[in-house]
Amino acid sequence: MALTTNRQLEKIVPSKIRELDEIFRSVDGCIMMTMGEPDFGMPENVKEAAITAIKNDVSHYSHSMGTLDARQAVAEFLKKRHNLDFDPASEIILTIGATEAIYSALFGVLNPGEKVIVPSPYFPLYKQATTTAYGETIEVDTSQTGFLMTPQLLHQTMAENENVKAIVLNFPSNPTGVTYMKEELVALAEAIKQYDIFVISDEIYSELTYGVDHLSMASLLPDQTILINGASKSFAMTGWRVGFIAAKKQWIPPIFKVHQTVVTTGVSVSYAAAAEAFRNGEADIERMRMAYETRRNICLDALTKAGFTVPEPKGAFYVFARIPEKFGNDDMAFCQTLAKEARVGMIPGSIFGPGGEGYVRMSFALATDLVEEAMQRVSAFVG
Ligand SMILES: Cc1ncc(COP(=O)(O)O)c(C=O)c1O
Repeated sequence: MALTTNRQLEKIVPSKIRELDEIFRSVDGCIMMTMGEPDFGMPENVKEAAITAIKNDVSHYSHSMGTLDARQAVAEFLKKRHNLDFDPASEIILTIGATEAIYSALFGVLNPGEKVIVPSPYFPLYKQATTTAYGETIEVDTSQTGFLMTPQLLHQTMAENENVKAIVLNFPSNPTGVTYMKEELVALAEAIKQYDIFVISDEIYSELTYGVDHLSMASLLPDQTILINGASKSFAMTGWRVGFIAAKKQWIPPIFKVHQTVVTTGVSVSYAAAAEAFRNGEADIERMRMAYETRRNICLDALTKAGFTVPEPKGAFYVFARIPEKFGNDDMAFCQTLAKEARVGMIPGSIFGPGGEGYVRMSFALATDLVEEAMQRVSAFVG
């Protein structure tokens, strides 16, 4: 048969994180630090809101942008936590997780062949979504600038490339945990302002910072920013699949068309749950944030003593650590041996793009005693 499928998709590799997760999971007793999956249950009031919604037959299609109530709750959350003003009627779309938000945003702004700057190491979805939208990524190695995009790197990349349409920023970052200090973000925003490019600002970890306040790109560059966030990480609600896009209203229609074409609308019960979380979730955010901070400190202390070089994660729930010199630069081999011999699962840094070689990413979003046990095993392993 001469049947073929979309050739563009041949460029996309299925998620390596999930593939490695499955392999390491098969090692008996392996402590899995592979996935960015909070170990906490969903907050009790959020469960109640979902149960009430089910009992009230909230089981029908909702508005394509998400229920107005949930969009209002997002607008209140953005105002209260980040002093941002977005109109719930025309500037917020609820999506199926931040994942769909990233996809719909990129598809909504890109023409075929246009380029997207992606500071590296990066969350692999940005490349997959850009490629699916017939765009091209320009991966910019940030390993020499503390894993941060700088004005200088931006100017250089813009000078070397034509047809650039957007830059993706993700802070606090998956995989590195680093985030921008206020002056750094202000300087970067000033630099971006000089170009006609969008900022797709993935701030899904905005509520999980350690010792620093999160500043949103939307507050510095409101006209160019397409803000992405959601309930998955802040409220331990990954399975409810609630993300959102917030942007100036002139950018919403094309993104909305993609969203409506792909999903029509999200899940009504999830919207009811997320509305409660966004409105009344501050204490839960703080409770979980404090637990993550304790775990982060356990990792930092143990890894530094064991000879890893660790950029201090100021947010999210990952440590991105440089493997001790005696193990060389092969992060894949290191992770495979570590899983087999020490029974700790981590993700090799190289799968997150240039600049990640020789590093490992570990998620500390698992119970504190498991984090402690994992660090003991790692320390014994590296000797
Ligand atoms: C940086 C980043 N963006 C987006 C996502 C996807 O979030 P969601 O589960 O809401 O689709 C993740 C999940 O790991 C992430 O780390």
